Amino acid sequence: MKNVILAIESSCDETSASICIDGKVMNNIIATQEIHSKYGGVVPELASRAHQQAIGPVVKEAMATAGVTMSDLNAIAFTQGPGLLGALLVGGAFAKSMALALHIPLIGVHHMKAHILAHFIEEPKPKFPFLCLTVSGGHTQIVRVDDYLDMTVIGQTTDDAVGEAFDKCAKLMGLPYPGGPLIDKFAKDGNKDRFIFNETSMPGLDYSFSGIKTGFMNFLNKEKMKNPYFIEENKADICASIQRHLIDMLMEKVELAVKQEGVNQVAIAGGVSANSGLRMKLEELAIDKGWETFIPSFQYCTDNAGMIGMTAHFQWLAGDTAPLTTSPMPRMKF
Ligand code: KG4
Ligand code: ZN
Repeated sequence: MKNVILAIESSCDETSASICIDGKVMNNIIATQEIHSKYGGVVPELASRAHQQAIGPVVKEAMATAGVTMSDLNAIAFTQGPGLLGALLVGGAFAKSMALALHIPLIGVHHMKAHILAHFIEEPKPKFPFLCLTVSGGHTQIVRVDDYLDMTVIGQTTDDAVGEAFDKCAKLMGLPYPGGPLIDKFAKDGNKDRFIFNETSMPGLDYSFSGIKTGFMNFLNKEKMKNPYFIEENKADICASIQRHLIDMLMEKVELAVKQEGVNQVAIAGGVSANSGLRMKLEELAIDKGWETFIPSFQYCTDNAGMIGMTAHFQWLAGDTAPLTTSPMPRMKF
């Protein structure tokens, strides 16, 4: 008998559904919420309402394109946390209703673990153990992965996430939300060595990104006093330089982690792993240091239900299902 899982992701500002059959992700339908760009960041209440509107059509499309009907489903998986409470509630309530109506099990998935297990959707797949730099709008972690469901955080940010640093710097330059992809786009034509920013040093494998925004704001203000058109005239170089700075901060700790753990398979995951500068730097390090590196395709970097389905498959095999009384956990522990 086939194992058919419907997976739902609704932790932030993407409503997504996917069908996973026997560990193979069949599709990955994503509705991105455009409404937030007007406000310079995700507005939680608007996100919940947009999820409510999108979830029905997105699930329907995932089932239709995979050629799956309600009676084919064996389990419903949903993102249990971490994420925005209202947004998680929409996906959770939808998943629970379906599980209740169809008398099938529910699987609660951890969003950040799913970003890591996105590496098992396509070839080439890493072997255990490997290290994963997980970088998103809410998290920055170095994780040691010993098995599908056996992972340990060995380093993390003590304040802002690196995605937040990208978005905040973009906002200071007058770019709309989310600014990370725009910094990436403009950086392609810029000189990454033109502007140098101060280092923040943290002990061990931990990070700190909260000082970046203030340092960057002071830099822009100082330059704007000399030339009010500084940002417009130097956009590409500013973007390339701040991007290089953030990537260097990330990779310095990854290099340390490789030495400390004696593991030289390195993967990246999460929204910021879509960044072309980071992807290029990882490839360079792979050649220089002899690492084996793993970079997911773009659609599995940012939030998507394919990774939720993939993770649910491993949880299903381990018998890890959730009761209908289970609740969303905005601060779900790793
Ligand atoms: O994983 P994700 O889609 O959502 C969260 O779980 O947070 O990550 C979103 C973050 C945002 O901060 C966004 O600006 C950043 O990923 N991001 C990027 C790029 N694409 C997405 N940052 C830099 N360069 C990119 N190409
Ligand atoms: Zn994410």
